Amino acid sequence: MDLVEEVVPLADRELAVLRPRYAAALVDEHAFEEDEFLPYWAQLWPSGVALARAVASRALKGARVLELGCGLGLPSLAAARAGGRVLATDWSPTAIELLQDNADRNGVALEAAVVSWTDPAPLLARAPFDLVLAADVLYERRSVPVLADLLPRLGGEVLLADPGRPPLEAFLERTGTVWARPPVYRLR
Ligand SMILES: C[S@@+](CC[C@H](N)C(=O)[O-])C[C@H]1O[C@@H](n2cnc3c(N)ncnc32)[C@H](O)[C@@H]1O
Repeated sequence: MDLVEEVVPLADRELAVLRPRYAAALVDEHAFEEDEFLPYWAQLWPSGVALARAVASRALKGARVLELGCGLGLPSLAAARAGGRVLATDWSPTAIELLQDNADRNGVALEAAVVSWTDPAPLLARAPFDLVLAADVLYERRSVPVLADLLPRLGGEVLLADPGRPPLEAFLERTGTVWARPPVYRLR
């Protein structure tokens, strides 16, 4: 894979991650045909950066943290560096492999696993987590009922970052929020 380094400043320090230079070059028409899979994991989305910044300043000391749809996994890297015991998940095996390399590059330890939120038994078996993270996961309407049902069952505190995509409103109607400070929402 043709990778480039991206350096992202967080609260006090920066994270340097490798990402594919051209995400579009990874489109696989067979994978799309099967499950409408597109390589969205390969980009660094602004929501991921916002969530990583929100998490970086926390003292997570041993807290059990889960990230769904992690992609390049910036929030997971920030949470691990803040002391969390992190499980980062995505349905893309390539994303998970690259995240493990990026964790090593940044000197942080985390667990990364291929899990789809449509088949969440491995996550529910390890719930509840102290903190659940998800950035820019509501880009398809089909994910709204799935994630609205799943996220509250995974942990006591859920931080969701979203750039205001159309499915967000339907999602928040289902879940409610205790407070919302866009683009990071904390679910009840
Ligand atoms: C728009 S990207 C956001 C990536 C990352 N969270 C960020 O903000 O940079 C959406 C992510 O959700 C993942 N995803 C989509 N459907 C999924 C599913 N059913 N189970 C797990 N991950 C999924 C994609 O592979 C991708 O990494």
